[in-house]
Amino acid sequence: MDRIRILGGTPLKGIIPIGGAKNAALTLMPACLLTAETLTLSNLPHLVDITTMANLLAQHGVGMAMNGDAALGGHTGRALELTAAEIVNTTAPYDLVRRMRASVLVLGPLLARCGQARVSLPGGCAIGTRPVDLHLKALEQMGARITLEEGYIAAEVNGRLKGAHIIFPQVTVGGTENILMAATLAEGETVIANAAREPEVADLAHCLVAMGARIEGIGTGTLRVQGVEALHGALYSVVPDRIETGSYAVAAAITRGDVELTGTRIDLMESVIKILRDCGVLVEPTARGIRVCAEGAEIVGTDIMTEPYPGFPTDMQAQLMALMATASGASMITETIFENRFMHVPELMRMGAKINVHGASAIVRGVPRLSGAQVMATDLRASVSLILAGLAAEGETVVNRVYHLDRGYERVEEKLAACGARIERFKGDAAE
Ligand code: EPZ
Repeated sequence: MDRIRILGGTPLKGIIPIGGAKNAALTLMPACLLTAETLTLSNLPHLVDITTMANLLAQHGVGMAMNGDAALGGHTGRALELTAAEIVNTTAPYDLVRRMRASVLVLGPLLARCGQARVSLPGGCAIGTRPVDLHLKALEQMGARITLEEGYIAAEVNGRLKGAHIIFPQVTVGGTENILMAATLAEGETVIANAAREPEVADLAHCLVAMGARIEGIGTGTLRVQGVEALHGALYSVVPDRIETGSYAVAAAITRGDVELTGTRIDLMESVIKILRDCGVLVEPTARGIRVCAEGAEIVGTDIMTEPYPGFPTDMQAQLMALMATASGASMITETIFENRFMHVPELMRMGAKINVHGASAIVRGVPRLSGAQVMATDLRASVSLILAGLAAEGETVVNRVYHLDRGYERVEEKLAACGARIERFKGDAAE
């Protein structure tokens, strides 16, 4: 398995291009199942998870053609044409779903388009059990008959799904996306209350409208959908990745550097920007994106609590913890979304971080310098937080099992090296 080696201590200077959002692409791609016409997605990031989703859709019968390419540092991204002219298979198999939980997002579209679906229950993952019970209860409210058999969700509906008034007892991004897609072809009106407001959900809604769906309340906690008979094709550009943006903003801050993040937008991540400014980091919009500067700054600790959008995103918690580990003063970081999202803590502590975990909260006492060490990536965002810590640490850090990283970050070592980081990837032994 590949490893990444970093020699820390170099302030990052330069430009980092930001790609399309992984978590938008992973719901926009299955939306193609809702129409027999071609959906073209541009600004598509080049990530392992995107390839996994493409493989899943291909076995449903979706024809795909990739055109254009991300010029190094360009923001064109790649354009993928997806055509579900005929769906030849309505089963999402275990060996694909186990690799990526977002596979469950084919459930709503398959039910809406074909009246049936058989989707492997996504298992838990490192950060939590992550059930999909809220997706299933909402689909049953829309008339689906759902049974669980041999680890699969077996769903069917006679005729069309029926519009319903769905109230999610807790905010669920995937649940909102699954129901939103299903509702576009349902009979009558669907109201989704307590809907997720993440920008990736709004991106899906805008794309569905471009495909002919009738959706009101986009960006709010209540979505109102009038079902239509059919959707048509569209050309849609994936929203910039706010979590990739935030991750590289922390890279600039933790190395006390000065970086411009291009092809992204401040309005996608106000809560992250506020925290960075509270810590003493200069963050300002530029014509091409966002400038993040911490040259000569004293980074001070601040308290963070993860919440559904527009609150502070759970997907930025590990990255901010790495920054707080090098700040002056103490910080309390509380994780309210997932039950086990502190696996980066023991690895950061191997690098000299002073962190005490009490239930859902971690107390971080900043230290002047972290020290490089061999560390292990455990999940996507934990792995990038270890890279960030390595950029600031004294000496050499080797991050193992970086396959986690490749699921959500494109060309990390290239983008960081282009700003002066001493970082390289090298092939590890398969056994590790
Ligand atoms: C999406 O996951 C993202 N993934 C996650 O990003 C992100 O952390 C999460 O939203 C929260 O923002 C994608 O978009 C592909 P949820 P999702 O349904 O949809 C519980 C990353 O690093 N829940 O909003 O699975 C669940 O267990 C990934 O890019 C139920 O109990 O998240 C969790 O505690 C990690 N029952 C909470 O709700 C359900 O039916 C939020 O989950 C659904 C969810």
